[in-house]
Amino acid sequence: MSNEILLLSGPNLDQLGVRSPEIYGTQTLAEHVARFSEQALREGLEVRHLQSNFEGDLIEAVHAARESSIAIVLNAGALTHTSWALADALATFGGVKIEVHLSNPAAREPFRHVSTLAGVVDGTIAGFGATSYDLALDAVIRLLARNR
Ligand code: DQA
Repeated sequence: MSNEILLLSGPNLDQLGVRSPEIYGTQTLAEHVARFSEQALREGLEVRHLQSNFEGDLIEAVHAARESSIAIVLNAGALTHTSWALADALATFGGVKIEVHLSNPAAREPFRHVSTLAGVVDGTIAGFGATSYDLALDAVIRLLARNR
């Protein structure tokens, strides 16, 4: 059985570190991914990461994950609020699915209050900065243990 978590990062997350650090913090995406991957490896889980600014790349990665991954952790960036196509793709993935955000979209502009993805994932973790990724990994581990 696979031990792979697909970690997906959507549009503009490649700009972390320089993009609105007062909201998203100063850590780069590479730093978040390295920390997440190291912690996952300690639990015997491998991480494959993809960042894309293109919706279709993320959708195709979700499709491919049906064959390769036991869990998807995704920060879809602003696609969270707009992409029914990404939600439809996620609905086809039968493994563990966690939506993650560095900021707390519910406490920000009204357009961020809607998530197209929230209804097709196991749960959402938002608002804890870098710790959101730690909590997402913890959630994956607990859900995998429960489903075993
Ligand atoms: C985000 C929140 C989204 O509203 C925003 O568009 C992002 C980042 C977060 O991690 O807080 O790009 O997903």
